[in-house]
Amino acid sequence: MEGLIIREVRLSDAVQIVNFKKMVSQESKFLLTCPDEVEDLIDQRRMITLYLGDPRRIFLVAEYFGEIVGMITLYGSNRRRIVHRGELGITVRRDFWGKGIGTSLMHNCLAIAKQKGFKKIQLEVMANNERAIRLYKKFGFEVEGVMKRAVCVDGEYIDLVMMGRWLGD
Ligand SMILES: CC(C)(COP(=O)(O)OP(=O)(O)OC[C@H]1O[C@@H](n2cnc3c(N)ncnc32)[C@H](O)[C@@H]1OP(=O)(O)O)[C@@H](O)C(=O)NCCC(=O)NCCS
Repeated sequence: MEGLIIREVRLSDAVQIVNFKKMVSQESKFLLTCPDEVEDLIDQRRMITLYLGDPRRIFLVAEYFGEIVGMITLYGSNRRRIVHRGELGITVRRDFWGKGIGTSLMHNCLAIAKQKGFKKIQLEVMANNERAIRLYKKFGFEVEGVMKRAVCVDGEYIDLVMMGRWLGD
């Protein structure tokens, strides 16, 4: 997609990220965060600083002509027995779905994760989120388990699917 840049987050993105999160949490019921639960600017700045200062974390944004239209995060624990594992989260603004932005974010993030030495990438996705599940399967993620009725959206209980991909040799 012409005009699309995938880059590391910057502290100066904080205002845009708060607004982005408020928007995507309003337009998608597939996220765990409700619009009024999005962190405020101070917490967002804190979060970006945490990601930028921790080599075990990745935070990339998709920028389209100066506007943030997507983001992907990955974080891993420092505990030695699970140090090979990273947890991934991705979101794209609804009016930009289906244009390959999710694919670009995944591609870049997985390449960096591999460079950083992560061997296993994990994520959780609502069972009814077909678009996201297709994206993950396209990148080689497999269903590893199901947490039954783990989320409640507007009074409806929804299963959470655990997916994983081995990045190591
Ligand atoms: C899931 C999400 C990140 C995908 O982002 P996107 O930019 O639309 O992704 P892409 O355009 O790269 O499409 C990725 C894949 O989705 C699938 N897809 C595209 N359009 C689809 C449709 N109409 N129906 C079902 N799957 C579709 C395809 O497999 C596509 O890959 P392909 O075109 O190479 O076959 C985005 O829809 C989103 O942010 N959704 C709301 C938040 C969310 O659900 N996040 C994930 C929480 S676990």
